[in-house]
Amino acid sequence: MKLSVPGRAVAAALVAATTLVTSGSIADAAPAAAAPNIPVANVKAHLSQLQSIATANGGNRAHGRAGYKASLDYVKAKLDAAGFTTTVQQFTAAGRTGYNLIADWPGGDANQVVMAGSHLDSVSTGAGINDNGSGSAAVLEAALAVSRAQYKPTKHLRFAWWGAEEQGLLGSRYYVNSLSSANRSKISGYLNFDMIGSPNPGYFVYDDDPAIEKTFQNFYTGIGISTEIETEGDGRSDHAPFKNAGVPVGGIFSGADYRKTAAQATKWGGTAGQPFDRCYHSSCDTTSNINDTALDRNSDALAYAVWELSA
Ligand code: TRP
Ligand code: ZN
Repeated sequence: MKLSVPGRAVAAALVAATTLVTSGSIADAAPAAAAPNIPVANVKAHLSQLQSIATANGGNRAHGRAGYKASLDYVKAKLDAAGFTTTVQQFTAAGRTGYNLIADWPGGDANQVVMAGSHLDSVSTGAGINDNGSGSAAVLEAALAVSRAQYKPTKHLRFAWWGAEEQGLLGSRYYVNSLSSANRSKISGYLNFDMIGSPNPGYFVYDDDPAIEKTFQNFYTGIGISTEIETEGDGRSDHAPFKNAGVPVGGIFSGADYRKTAAQATKWGGTAGQPFDRCYHSSCDTTSNINDTALDRNSDALAYAVWELSA
């Protein structure tokens, strides 16, 4: 879906302004590249692959199970083909081997790193397509969009897929703990995407860092969607280890097991009195458990924030 957002209007205005200037320094100032629209069909194609991987591996993609590693191999192959430098970080958690996948986009200021990440593991009771195929697929597609655009941001971009989130944020905590304090301080922001295609969706923005929150807010304002501050699970996802280490964090969320209120149904549609995700941590968290409009909007919000915060 094509969306009109503030950054694009500003970029267009800058292009128009530069054409009017025939001398002086303004003509030399190139406008920042605008974030692309993320094709939701591509995000859904990744979800179908994750579903197939679960189906072929006992119905889940959980930490320590074959479906987790197969998920990681799928994401890694796409990134390798697109020119990312990928690293698989192995760890042991709850007596099983786990893996994080890190993908660096070559270039940008190594002293200012912008990260976007999502957990790639599911619970053992299901395929985990909204939780968290949705975030994993959208982060993957945003990374592939960076490659398609051959984006050259000022800052360095790093994408991450975490293992063992469902065991208690173990993969992301392992990653943060493994960084030297010097490397930790180079991370200017970590953006988290955990459950962004909930079937009865809300539009929640984390309020941890004002600048990151404002960036997401600008996107949703631009498409006419009102948001609420994320309060369902402070510390319940992979941004928590980063925040605890002093890294500015942010993210978006479409809701888990809490129920949508009447007021929320009035502004967002959907069903009041029902959970945002009635299949949360259940066997029905399949490709049927996704709201395409929410997935589309939130994938575009993700790309917008990555572009804006790294420019
Ligand atoms: N992280 C939780 C899970 O994977 C889901 C969740 C609940 C969540 N509340 C949240 C994610 C708030 C982000 C923000 O099961
Ligand atoms: Zn979960």
